[in-house]
Amino acid sequence: MNFITEAVAKAVKSLYQIDLNPADVNLQETRKEFEGQVTLVTFPFTKASRKSPEQTGQEIGAFLQNQVDEIAAFNVIKGFLNISLSDTYWLGKFYNEVLADDFGFIKPNGQKVMVEYSSPNTNKPLHLGHVRNNLLGYSVAKILEAAGFEVVKTNLVNDRGIHICKSMLAWQKFGNGETPESSGMKGDHLVGKYYVLFDKEYKKQIEELVASGQSEEEAKKNAPLMKGAQEMLQKWEAGDAEVIGLWKTMNSWVYAGFAETYKRLGVEFDKYYYESNTYLLGKDIVEEGLEKGVFFQKEDGSVWVDLTADGLDQKLVRRSDGTSVYMTQDLGTAQLKYDDFHMNESIYVVGNEQDYHFKVLFLILEKLGKSWAKGLYHLSYGMVDLPSGKMKSREGTVVDADDLIDEMEQTAKEQTEALGKTEGLSEVDKAELYHTIGMGALKYFLLKVDPKKRLLFDPNESVDFQGHTGPFIQYTHARIRSVLSRVASSDNTGSTVSKLFPEERDLILLLNQFPDIIEQAAKGHNPAAIANYAYEVAKAFNKFYHERSILQAEDEQTKQFRLQLSAASVNVIKKGMGLLGIEVPERM
Ligand code: ARG
Repeated sequence: MNFITEAVAKAVKSLYQIDLNPADVNLQETRKEFEGQVTLVTFPFTKASRKSPEQTGQEIGAFLQNQVDEIAAFNVIKGFLNISLSDTYWLGKFYNEVLADDFGFIKPNGQKVMVEYSSPNTNKPLHLGHVRNNLLGYSVAKILEAAGFEVVKTNLVNDRGIHICKSMLAWQKFGNGETPESSGMKGDHLVGKYYVLFDKEYKKQIEELVASGQSEEEAKKNAPLMKGAQEMLQKWEAGDAEVIGLWKTMNSWVYAGFAETYKRLGVEFDKYYYESNTYLLGKDIVEEGLEKGVFFQKEDGSVWVDLTADGLDQKLVRRSDGTSVYMTQDLGTAQLKYDDFHMNESIYVVGNEQDYHFKVLFLILEKLGKSWAKGLYHLSYGMVDLPSGKMKSREGTVVDADDLIDEMEQTAKEQTEALGKTEGLSEVDKAELYHTIGMGALKYFLLKVDPKKRLLFDPNESVDFQGHTGPFIQYTHARIRSVLSRVASSDNTGSTVSKLFPEERDLILLLNQFPDIIEQAAKGHNPAAIANYAYEVAKAFNKFYHERSILQAEDEQTKQFRLQLSAASVNVIKKGMGLLGIEVPERM
């Protein structure tokens, strides 16, 4: 609000002969319990005014009210001058900005950002942790887009390695040719089943070997299944046709399964990276690091980086047998991503169990002098727990993403039917509605919390139509749509109200904040800012709706204005929820 800072600078110049740069005027949002919208702290001027902070506030306030049309009133509480802007001012904002079609979305800033998220392994289906990851990654990408960035959404698939060979070997040995078609199982679940089976059979072999006198450690190494998996990995690396054929087939089953889950989750990617293509890339960087003296070699030939001076430890980047480790691959992939896209910022959405990994990764790249290293950011998030006893997966360990989505649709169905809100809907419409509500509940519940925080997901609470939930906001959206659908939109004659009721003003003020909230959420990589804002808008609308009649308004002008206010509210709710990847139904 430049005009206020300028006016304040003028006021203190004229009243107290202070030469103040408008940039140094410090304005804040007025606290909720006070009247007004903008607050000036008057202490800095008391030296020149030689009056109490209260008196100084009174003088500046009177000056401003006199000189600035948009300032309608003021009050002083101790050293705080609270300023109320006129309804004309807020109505101007409303008509010129809030009602515009592209309101909220910030114009392109010429910056490019990559968001890597999901990044699963192809040996088992997606689980609850992936769900939080996918929802966060997708939402952050949407928010950055709205904030003016060009966004590239990527998925780095871990499609090779010993864990993949384990499911392949188990299938070869025990699968009897079973396929997704023959078994009716989703491909990722089928492969996951063999991964679990490998482990079970492997444990049996270890027990047998231990019973026959081997130590636990020996048994783990000597078990035929483990030897077989390692052999398979070597064959894979050598390009053995049979192994590669099996690998391709089983991975294609997994991808078909992932595609279904991604579709149900409503996420997508612009670019896939596969570790089978990138796992050798880091080798060049190891050489580069040795040349630059950032890495050093130990006697056994292994290559390390020493980060003890930075408070971290020594980290292996190449084994003595010349093979690379997770870190090496990530060094290579980081370079590849940059070469492909030249982005200004590169975000990795990965759980907080990898905090240390990313600290080390970014530090190494900085030490190697990569100009783009300062644009790397680890969007770390906490675990998701479920109330105990809820939804165990088939294997009984982690919660499966597909099961969770089914469960959410079911819960949404029960809630909706209990409230009797389904009359007149076809079966197809109902199924779609339950999906929208169920996913809205899940997404909102996971995204309203700061990503860093561990969270406990409660399916029933998340679907509560009255709570701080996705379905509550979805319901508010549907309610507004229903009001709007009851009148034919009339041409606006241009004349409108000139005075606002408090609920109307509050709503306009809140809507007006949307672009700032988007910017905040983008800066903080934090969808929770949008989630909580959407809730505030829904609440403010409901208050307005209860206090003021829309269709039975006092006069036609007022009715038109309130319809426009409702339309603006519904648009902001829809856009805001869209930034969370949440759809809003027209009716529910
Ligand atoms: N696939 C890995 C895992 O499941 C996550 C990869 C994260 N991304 C990365 N660039 N390291 O743990």
